[in-house]
Amino acid sequence: MTETARDLTPADAAPAADPSSAPSALAASPLATEVERRRTFAIISHPDAGKTTLTEKLLLFGGAINLAGEVKAKKNRRDTRSDWMSIERERGISVVTSVMTFDYRDRVFNLLDTPGHEDFSEDTYRTLTAVDSAVMVIDAAKGIEARTRKLFEVCRLRDIPIVTFINKMDRESRDPFELLDEIEKTLALDTAPLTWPLGRGRDFVGTFDIERGGVRLLDSKDDGHDAGGPPIPMTVPEIAALNPNLDAGEIAHELELVTEVCPRFDLAAFREGHLTPVFFGSALKNFGVRDLLDGLHRFAPSPRAQDSDAGPIDPADPRMSAFVFKIQANMDPNHRDRIAFARLCSGKLTRGMKARLVRTGKPMTLATPHFFFAQDRSIADEAFAGDVVGIPNHGTLRIGDTLTEGRDITFVGVPSFAPEILRRVRLSDAMKAKKLKQALQELAEEGVVQVFRPSDGSPALVGVVGPLQLDVLKARLAAEYGLPVEFDLAEFQLARWIAADDKAKLEEFIAANRSGIAEDLDGDLVYLARNEFYLGYTRERAPGIVFTDVKETQKGK
Ligand code: G4P
Repeated sequence: MTETARDLTPADAAPAADPSSAPSALAASPLATEVERRRTFAIISHPDAGKTTLTEKLLLFGGAINLAGEVKAKKNRRDTRSDWMSIERERGISVVTSVMTFDYRDRVFNLLDTPGHEDFSEDTYRTLTAVDSAVMVIDAAKGIEARTRKLFEVCRLRDIPIVTFINKMDRESRDPFELLDEIEKTLALDTAPLTWPLGRGRDFVGTFDIERGGVRLLDSKDDGHDAGGPPIPMTVPEIAALNPNLDAGEIAHELELVTEVCPRFDLAAFREGHLTPVFFGSALKNFGVRDLLDGLHRFAPSPRAQDSDAGPIDPADPRMSAFVFKIQANMDPNHRDRIAFARLCSGKLTRGMKARLVRTGKPMTLATPHFFFAQDRSIADEAFAGDVVGIPNHGTLRIGDTLTEGRDITFVGVPSFAPEILRRVRLSDAMKAKKLKQALQELAEEGVVQVFRPSDGSPALVGVVGPLQLDVLKARLAAEYGLPVEFDLAEFQLARWIAADDKAKLEEFIAANRSGIAEDLDGDLVYLARNEFYLGYTRERAPGIVFTDVKETQKGK
């Protein structure tokens, strides 16, 4: 056997045993078995990296064939931002695909959509609080881009494990070693490639399976309809013979480097969010997608314990608990309903059950919890920790709310992010100021925008992380409250939550900066700054005052 043939022959054994199916305390009851099967994840990427295409292909493997067209249709409808009808349409569509549930092998995958394009908003961030892992899609020609980096940082706040898919390998790409290096340097995340591209761009012929040895070829058809066999054993000269532009020496050298130098995959480091397994492929050509899905199947964690004010809540605890991370209003213009999306954190939700809304202490009957699948909503008879259900309501539920089966706990960690755009709302009819105040309060509770009320009594400011939120606010104020508004630039550009251990210090700071102090929806204190320079200047002169740009809602409330 030649040196290279030895390297490339698939190992006889299957890849290291699936650690996530190891017996655990969870494997005890039918409930625990259902919970253990759940894998709830999101895809994070920069626009155009291929998230939509990859989503389609993942769903094909999950048997949701009809959905593929829907995902594309959704994307095509993202057009002019200022057209209310198109926003409505887009929102309607984005709702039905907000959660895509599919079975793959013995697991149930919940893929949560993170709107990540022009319609970037706080919803995107908050959705990431409801997942247990994420797939990071990177365009092989571009590497880490701004939006990916930002979303990654949100994942890191919760140490969410990330699986990386380097996409568009069928096109001219950057050097794969350089891409890995960039991930490590810019994200401070170790990388462990599990596949390796053979050839580049037009000469890309397939991938080498680093763990098992063996090769998958680009032209081998795998559309999810068969079980997907193991990689084929091939020698380097055989691979090089596939394309006249391939150089056997170069391939052998790269494979040697990658097998000997790159870190091996380490499950514990992955689960802690320190290391990412990397797959190379082409979503467009449906190549490498099964490897990715198998990777998720093997490594992605089952529902994690969620932090509450009473400590972490075990997902296999039989008492149902859930938190609301997203609210969608007016999904159906004929019914003017609101749907609260709730992530189940423990136990089992059954249709018709009575839950306690912890914020108000009041009971709430979950008469028609919904599952969303493709174009359909269906009534959920039962759902388990890890699942996401939609709960129709008329404004009772707010973002960050906790629902329980009687217990008095509140989940923490649904964050508010400091807005990137601050505006004052200008009313054409000053007589309606009171109505506007009420409307802003309601829409802020729903998470459409953040509202900051300056303590000097000047008109409220609205804050958003994406401009689409302003479009939606304007359209909804007009359509639902009869309030035509415009937005004016505010004298402030930045908002930071402030706190101090020493109350007297905080009061002193407030007195000295009165015109820049405001309260948010929950009554928490915010410092408004004209720009970065002022913020830095003020911060330097206010020792003992903590300025933060992320606030966990509901904490301690
Ligand atoms: P996004 O959701 O992240 O924004 O990306 P999307 O999947 O829509 O992909 C963006 C563009 O990149 C699309 O082309 C898509 O076809 C293309 N693309 C996605 N994956 C791959 C890949 O693996 N290889 C290649 N070569 N292209 C890929 P488009 O021209 O903008 O749209 P369309 O006309 O194809 O619909």
